[in-house]
Amino acid sequence: MQPVTQPTSSGGSEGAGAQGHAVLAELGAVAVVVAAGAFGLARRRRARLYRLHADKVANIKRRHPLELRLERHGVPGFDGALVKVPDFLPAGVFARLHSDIVGLGTSERAYVPVMRRGATASYESLITELPGVVAYYHSADLMRFISRVVRDPVEPTPINDQSSLSILHYDKPLDHIGWHFDHNFYRGRHFTALLTIVNQGSGENGLSHAVLTANFGGRIVAVPTEPNSLVLFEGAKVRHKVTPLHEGEHRVVLSMTCCTDPRARLWQGLARRVKDTAYYGVRALWT
Ligand SMILES: [Fe+2]
Repeated sequence: MQPVTQPTSSGGSEGAGAQGHAVLAELGAVAVVVAAGAFGLARRRRARLYRLHADKVANIKRRHPLELRLERHGVPGFDGALVKVPDFLPAGVFARLHSDIVGLGTSERAYVPVMRRGATASYESLITELPGVVAYYHSADLMRFISRVVRDPVEPTPINDQSSLSILHYDKPLDHIGWHFDHNFYRGRHFTALLTIVNQGSGENGLSHAVLTANFGGRIVAVPTEPNSLVLFEGAKVRHKVTPLHEGEHRVVLSMTCCTDPRARLWQGLARRVKDTAYYGVRALWT
């Protein structure tokens, strides 16, 4: 007669433990599939949105041709990778931009401890709300001028890059940006152009204390940014910051980026999205 083997209590807990692990693994797999599906859906939606935005930008360019007459500035030197051009736009063009931008009320405030404090209106919101500003950024005159200065043909950075065109508002005491480079997330060279729209306060010459300060040519230099001045620089080479705003002051800047080759490698696209979360929140991750 064969002895009857009774299951031991330790064998029972091993079985239950194995079952628990299997359930956890299954739940984990389901969570991964759900997260991947949601991410894929969000990306497809964003891709559809960008196709719509690209159509809108094409229409804006057709309907708002702009003559900026920038030849009058000649070809300013760009040896230190930074140049400032005062009275950049013809008075009438600047007055229209100023009135459009000052009238726009929708900005997202961001506060990244130590690094940045201020409000930003993104490219997406400008495409919908300020076609005149988008037309200015895409104008052939502007891109031709920048190309002449940097001695390399440039074009606007892609539509899914939220920093391609944005409005930066400094309107609360201590708004600022700490020392940083504008890192290049593209295959070609990358440039930042800042057109100052508003700058008023109790600083030098009635300007605000939010002063663009750059480390270039081996020196740290304060660059006064009067309204209608353009500062163009290669942000990956020129470390820069904006000092804190004082009470009752106001500075508004139209920020535009362009590059010589807008293609990006996979790691460059990922790095750009992570950087953009500082300005536009986590939605920038699936742009
Ligand atoms: Fe910057």
